[in-house]
Amino acid sequence: MYDLTVIIPTFREEANIRKIVTEVDEVFRSSGIHGEVLVVDDNSPDATISIVNDLKVTMPNVSLLVRTADHGLSQSVSDGFIHASSDVFVVIDADFSHPPVLIPKMYEEILAGNDVVIGSRYMEGGGIRKWPIKRRVISLGATFLGRLLFPDITDPVSGFFAVRKSVVAQAHLKPRGYKILLEVLGKGIWEHDKEIPFEFSDREIGSSKLKIKTIVEYAQQVVDITLYSFTQHQSAAWREWKKVFKFGMVGLTGIVVNEGVLICLKESAGLLLPVASVFAIEFSILSNFILNDLWTFRSDQKRVLSHRWQRFMLFQLVSLGGAVINFGILNALSAYTGMDYRMANVLGILVAFAWNFIVNRRLTWVTKRTSG
Ligand code: GDD
Ligand code: MN
Repeated sequence: MYDLTVIIPTFREEANIRKIVTEVDEVFRSSGIHGEVLVVDDNSPDATISIVNDLKVTMPNVSLLVRTADHGLSQSVSDGFIHASSDVFVVIDADFSHPPVLIPKMYEEILAGNDVVIGSRYMEGGGIRKWPIKRRVISLGATFLGRLLFPDITDPVSGFFAVRKSVVAQAHLKPRGYKILLEVLGKGIWEHDKEIPFEFSDREIGSSKLKIKTIVEYAQQVVDITLYSFTQHQSAAWREWKKVFKFGMVGLTGIVVNEGVLICLKESAGLLLPVASVFAIEFSILSNFILNDLWTFRSDQKRVLSHRWQRFMLFQLVSLGGAVINFGILNALSAYTGMDYRMANVLGILVAFAWNFIVNRRLTWVTKRTSG
């Protein structure tokens, strides 16, 4: 039994495989980790397999899994989870895009109680070298989608991560495409995560195999994880959906408050309609804020905006933005597309709701994440 299994998925990696395996093993030695290297190869037609077999002769902690049933990066990693002989896994690319020196740090963070430890390109201290603009844009899009499900994670689609066996052992993973981490986060059973910044550097030779199909597959994966989270109530994505539901319910109470205050001020206090309406709107923003602050986003962790008044000012601003969006969409759609104004308003409300939730989730009520 090993402390740790480093899973290296490979396809046509004859140029890198000897060096990466050796380097990972050196990291084991220098950090005192009793580690195993598991190469999961998709039956590469080049010398990858024979090189690993050659390494195995002198390195008893190296194993090789050659897959033939199907082909794919995520499937390979997921097979690696099944064949590994330890309780902690690290997944790393063969082409030195991910620095092996960070492996001990990731392992430490698992020992410290984290279930998933992610090498992040998008947190402070992380980065990407040698990527063309097109790839950056696609990656940012993918990351944005992934962060709808896991807003606290800066890089939910990283290919460099550590995970406890218990997270994935019972999980119904449906591996496909390149983003196995998103699948692990969406379907695995975990609570604590940690991100470590690193600089991704692309391979010198070869080109990205990114195709339209990959993007479509990814979108399907996001939808699939979303649906799955509706049935698996202990998942992290479900915790996020609960916030969306609560935020929506608070929004509904806001309508009642708005209407109630409007009627009171107009009928009992006898204020003019525009004046009464301004007060009514402001009151509902205030009551929405209080409910969201005490209920929807109640948190044990420290918030970046630590004072309630700071959060309120921002919430107020975001709400005004939401009102402008609602107003803009309603008027633009009914004026330019001839859409029924009631339908146009529903669309405006939905977009404004998404705006309010996403921006407030990420700015107003964002919690501090210790990096390091
Ligand atoms: N077994 C197997 N099967 N391994 C594969 C396959 C496959 O079909 N395709 C690629 N690999 C291996 C490669 O040999 C390499 O070790 C690793 O998976 C990454 O493959 P690259 O082709 O170098 O991927 P990339 O640089 O475009 O993508 C990287 O960045 C993504 C983040 O943007 C990878 O690290 C992804 O895992 C990561 O999500
Ligand atoms: Mn690569």
